[in-house]
Amino acid sequence: MVLAGGSGLRFSAALPKQFHNLAGRPIVEYAIETMARNEGIDRIYVVYPEGYAELLGKVIAKYRHFKSIELVKGGSSRAASTRAALDAIGTVSRRKVLFHDAVRPFLTDEILERCITGLDAYDSVDTVVPAVDTVVKLDESLQCLDSIPNRAQLRRGQTPQGFWLDQLSQAYEGVDDEGLNRFTDDCGVLLSRFPDARIGAVAGGDDNIKITTPTDMFLAEQILFAGVGPQGHPVIDRIRYKAVAAVFGATSGLGLASAERLQELGWTVESASRANGVDVRDPAQVEAFLQGVHERHGRIDLVANFSGVLHVGKLVAMEQQKLEETLGVNLMGSINVSRAAHTHLSATKGHLVLISSSSYYRGRGDTAAYSASKAAVVNLTQALADEWAADGVTVSCIVPRRADTPMRRNAFPDEDQSGNLSPNAVADAIVDLHNRQQTGIIKHVY
Ligand code: CTP
Repeated sequence: MVLAGGSGLRFSAALPKQFHNLAGRPIVEYAIETMARNEGIDRIYVVYPEGYAELLGKVIAKYRHFKSIELVKGGSSRAASTRAALDAIGTVSRRKVLFHDAVRPFLTDEILERCITGLDAYDSVDTVVPAVDTVVKLDESLQCLDSIPNRAQLRRGQTPQGFWLDQLSQAYEGVDDEGLNRFTDDCGVLLSRFPDARIGAVAGGDDNIKITTPTDMFLAEQILFAGVGPQGHPVIDRIRYKAVAAVFGATSGLGLASAERLQELGWTVESASRANGVDVRDPAQVEAFLQGVHERHGRIDLVANFSGVLHVGKLVAMEQQKLEETLGVNLMGSINVSRAAHTHLSATKGHLVLISSSSYYRGRGDTAAYSASKAAVVNLTQALADEWAADGVTVSCIVPRRADTPMRRNAFPDEDQSGNLSPNAVADAIVDLHNRQQTGIIKHVY
C-alpha cells in the first residue's frame, strides 16, 4: 500500500506534496517504482486524494508491466486512507501487507526485505532509526518536562509498517470515526486492539526521509544529487547502440578526457572548440556545428559543454574584458549550447550535460565572476530539466571537485595537483548519468 491520499497541509502548496517533482518525476513515483521492481511484492495499491486519480493513473501506467497496480480513493485522515485500502483488498486472508508513506521516496529493497522477512517472526513490523536527539516527554500542561526517557531505547518511526492482513483488518473493525482521526500510524491501531501484539523493530535508513515541509524537499534533492539515494534505473542501455555525442570545449582537460572516454565506449564523438572555429559565445557558430554533426551522423544523443574560462583576481581590479569573457563563455556559452541542442536532443530523447564547479554553492574570493557564472549554470540546468521533461530530454550538471586540468594549472601555477580529481572521474560520471531515468541531477564528482 502506497499511501498518497494526503493533502500536505504543512507543505503549504496548492499541489499535494506527493506530486511535486523530484529530479523530473513526482515524489510518489519513487516508492511505486521501488515496489514495482521488488520481487517480494505481488500487488500494489496506491491510495489517492480526491481529484488526482488521473495524474496517478499516468504514473502507475509506467509500472503496470511489472505487476498489478490499483488505485484506491483515500479518506480524510491517514487511518481512514488505510481503511479504504483494506476495504479495496476485499477478501481477508493471512497475507502480508506493507503500508508505506508516498512521501518517503528513498525506500530501498533492503528495507522492504527486512519488513517482509521480519513478519515471519512477529505480528507486525515497524521501520525505525535511532533517535539522535534526546527526546523529552512533557507533562499534561505541555509547558514542563515530565521525564527524559532513556535514549538508548528510543527510535524514530518511519515506514513501511508491516502487518498480517487478517489481524490488521480485525483491529480496524474496532476503530470508530473519532479513532480514525486520532491514529497517526497503523501500528498504533493494531496495539489499540491487540495490546500484546509483538511488533518487531526493523532498521530503516537515514535517507528514508519523509517530506513534510519545503525544507525536506531541499534535503531530498541533496540526497539524490549527492548520489546517496536511489540512483535511477536504466531505461535502455543507451550505450549499446551507436550513439553520437557533440562535445564543446574538448581541446584539453575534462572535455578532452570525456570525449576520449566516450569514444572508448563506442560512441561517435565530434568535438568543437575555438581551435576549430566554434566560439560558444556565438550562437550561429554553435548551431552550425551541431547542424553539421547531425548531417554527418543522422542523430545527436548527447551534447556536453565543457567550454569555460577562469580568471583569478579581485572583482574590482579585474579588467572589464575578462569579466565579460567569464560570463560570456561560462554562462552565455551554456545558454547558447543548450538552445541549439534542444531540437537535436528532442529527436533522440537525448541528454544535455552542463559543467559547473564546487564554487557554485560557496562563492570564493578571487573568483567572484567565475563562481557566479557557475552558480548560474546550476540554475540553468534545473530550469531546463523542468522545461524539457515533457520532451523527454534529460538535463544534468556535473560539479567536479578541483580537477587537474590545464585551466587550473594556468590559473594556479603553484597549486599542488596531487590531490586534484582525475579528469576520467568526470567522464565516468557523464556515462553513468546518461543511463539513468532522472533529469535535473546536479552530480557532484569527488
Ligand atoms: N495520507 C493519506 N491519506 C490521508 C492523509 C495522509 O494517504 N488522508 C498519506 C500522505 O499522502 C503521506 C502519508 O500519509 O504519504 C504521511 O502523512 P503526512 O506526511 O502527514 O501527509 P499529509 O497528511 O499529506 O501532510 P499534512 O499532515 O502536512 O497535511
